[in-house]
Amino acid sequence: MDIMVIGSGGREHAIIKKIKQNPKVNKIYALPGNGGISVDAICVDIGAKDIQKQVKFAVENKIDFAIVAPDDPLVLGAVDELEKAGIKCFGPNKNAAIIEGSKVFAKNLMKKYNIPTAKYCTFSDSKKALEYLETVPIPTVIKADGLALGKGVIIANTKEEAVSAVKEIMEDRKFGESGANIVIEEFLTGPEVSVLSFTDGKTIIPMVSSMDHKRALDHDEGLNTGGMGTIAPNPYYTEEVAKECMEKIFKPTIDAMNKENRTFKGCLYFGLMITPKGPKVIEYNCRFGDPETQVVLPLLETDLLDIMIATADEKLSQMDVKFSNKSACAVIMASGGYPLKYGTGYKITMPKDLTSEIYIAGAKKENGELYTSGGRVLAVTSVADTLKEAIEKSYEDVKKIDFKDKHYRKDIGAKCINL
Ligand code: AMP
Ligand code: GLY
Repeated sequence: MDIMVIGSGGREHAIIKKIKQNPKVNKIYALPGNGGISVDAICVDIGAKDIQKQVKFAVENKIDFAIVAPDDPLVLGAVDELEKAGIKCFGPNKNAAIIEGSKVFAKNLMKKYNIPTAKYCTFSDSKKALEYLETVPIPTVIKADGLALGKGVIIANTKEEAVSAVKEIMEDRKFGESGANIVIEEFLTGPEVSVLSFTDGKTIIPMVSSMDHKRALDHDEGLNTGGMGTIAPNPYYTEEVAKECMEKIFKPTIDAMNKENRTFKGCLYFGLMITPKGPKVIEYNCRFGDPETQVVLPLLETDLLDIMIATADEKLSQMDVKFSNKSACAVIMASGGYPLKYGTGYKITMPKDLTSEIYIAGAKKENGELYTSGGRVLAVTSVADTLKEAIEKSYEDVKKIDFKDKHYRKDIGAKCINL
């Protein structure tokens, strides 16, 4: 089979490395991919949002299966267009991807179907939002409705911060049209858990749980990033919590989407907080998480491509999806300065004998050498019998990889070891 994967980050590299293990796979194309991915797939210079060119490429190259990984093309309807052209896909249609594309939609869905989430109000008028702010407890959480490159969520620790967040999002349109509407919601506390799941709209199979580390610096300090590291499984996600999530969150979400005529097929990501009052949904994503994928897929024992095809064919109930009992840790090596200003074009050196898997996110290849080209450069993932060993193995290899101004957190998974 010839496969096409849309996207260009570490998540896509992890997906590609995994599907390569399937003996049915012939060629894998990455659109656009990156310098590191080019070792494992044929990179084609078509952007993740360039849906018309993706469709043309898929048809011309007789692609048997397309995997649409990032949020933008999913929300813009890449799967719909590819399917119209006869290409089988993994990923939700546009009308289901709205579960990530509109936070107002997601919150209203949860309210309508009694799915536990933070209390909230939505606003399309900044004056009314500012009036409402006078009545809410602080901290409070302000969210732009649409996609905002992962930056559309502001935790306001003072009333002034809340007021300026509303003004920036709604009046200054800091995130463009994504800020035409906003959600103001209750600030929740508790450990966070990411649960990715496979679903074909009838069956839902949660993957092994994971924990992201979003802040740039150790001890969860510094700015919010796309994710500086992950571990799996997440120790806060006990069997009891998993059971509660299945009954109160996962199945009800799938049923709710069906009732709304928005059947979700693909990977549905539940961003959860285990609050003192039980698990609640912080956010839904319509795709694999990044860098969650870089720890979840290395623990997957069942063939990924087979699961994805079964999902597309609505035959997920026939799959026996197994994860290993081991643990995984991914440490992100980033460019110093990320998520703000950072330099690029620095040569990456790494020995060939690393025991970890390396998933490249931001690098280009020139004359056979890799050079940094993005904020998050690569993930170093190790799998071991215990989380402690996985963390140690990843950090051993992190120390062997070098590029100018490299930055990484030294405490990925640390708070999970002595629970
Ligand atoms: P993201 O949506 O990925 O930008 O992440 C936003 C982050 O903000 C989450 O991972 C949480 O840590 C935090 N967050 C979002 N909503 C809430 C909430 N209602 N209460 C507390 N923290 C929140
Ligand atoms: N790691 C969070 C996300 O993929 O949105």
